Amino acid sequence: MQNGTNPPITPGLEGVVAAETRLSSVNGQIGELIIAGFAVEELGNKATFEETAYLLWYGHLPDRHELLDFKARLVTLRTLPPATLHLLKVVATQKVPAMDALRMAAGTLNLGLSNSHEEAALALTARLPTIVAAYWRLLHGQEAIEPDPTLDHAANYLTMLNGKRPSASQVRGLETYLNTVVDHGLNASTFAARVIISTQSDVVSAVVGAIGALKGPLHGGAPGPALDMVFEIGSADRAESYLRAKLERGERLMGFGHRVYKVRDPRAEVLAQAAAQMFQAGGDMTLYELVKAVEGTAVSLLAEYKPGRNLQTNVEFYTALLLHGLGLETDLFTPTFAIGRVAGWIAHCFEQVKYGRLIRPQSAYVGERDRQWLPLQER
Ligand code: ACO
Repeated sequence: MQNGTNPPITPGLEGVVAAETRLSSVNGQIGELIIAGFAVEELGNKATFEETAYLLWYGHLPDRHELLDFKARLVTLRTLPPATLHLLKVVATQKVPAMDALRMAAGTLNLGLSNSHEEAALALTARLPTIVAAYWRLLHGQEAIEPDPTLDHAANYLTMLNGKRPSASQVRGLETYLNTVVDHGLNASTFAARVIISTQSDVVSAVVGAIGALKGPLHGGAPGPALDMVFEIGSADRAESYLRAKLERGERLMGFGHRVYKVRDPRAEVLAQAAAQMFQAGGDMTLYELVKAVEGTAVSLLAEYKPGRNLQTNVEFYTALLLHGLGLETDLFTPTFAIGRVAGWIAHCFEQVKYGRLIRPQSAYVGERDRQWLPLQER
């Protein structure tokens, strides 16, 4: 509602262009995601996560020397400050969800650092995996595992989590996932980070705010329910009756539909291919084939039940398959999303600091006017 003096309102800022960016472009009509000039299909399964982070932060792919230097700087920052580890131990006794533990611990990460945005950026990127892995183990009564400086970012995360070195195909699967989710236009958490840094605040504050935004089920998503649905279906011959019954009850099929994408989310294909390679290397394609069958049935039933809506597979559907294939439990899905997206949040902070203005929209007042003050005894 407007009071006539206010400009038109755009609820949820839908369609409002609030920043220029060189980081990523999302075209929901043709299903295109470009990350720093590369189609997600080109970058996703080729780059290491370190290469993608470097690309976003510095605008070009690193050469051999730049990459070695960048990796070395990340490696030296992986270990958590003692206070952060202590906090995680305390929080684990309260069985706090992993995203909350990540938010709390991330807020401690500028301990011992200078005020440099770049140093904070490196520390956050290097340490989010250490936090998530350490917290997960503490939550399950295990000792946290120290980072291994001989391993790259993705391999080190899986090793700290599982206590054993992952296979090459598992590392590739995780690298592809992290690259695929690293940036996605002005999504809610990225916007939150840009708002915070636009006040000339610091990168740690911006990332903590972004983690808080990512946690919400409308954003960080719930790939868990998509996976639960596949497990409940159990076998391809049950897919149609199960999904039809769900749609008849007016329920939504998890992992389908998207506010921006009106065709198949391009990230779904990149993740599906990465999952296929990983499951092939593991020698068991059963779950992968079930997921493909469920997807095909779901898309055709959605066209039947919701004609004209263009409800297609979204990123969450294959995220669930890929991360499950990596041995991650569903409560780790959103924290692992944060481990990838943090490089994007930081790139947006750098961009905002360089080119941006204070982000300060307006609101339309629709409350009362001319109220008269009543003393307490008269209310
Ligand atoms: N299953 C069944 N019906 C659906 C689905 C679905 N997955 N998604 C949308 N619809 C239907 C709605 O019921 C509605 O139908 P109606 O007009 O007959 O009432 C119509 O399509 C439009 O739905 P909206 O909610 O208005 O569409 P919106 O663009 O806001 O929704 C959303 C996008 C929230 C992702 C939705 O598609 C959804 O709930 N999907 C399932 C949950 C999911 O997969 N979430 C992860 C999204 S990806 C991400 O966040 C990273």
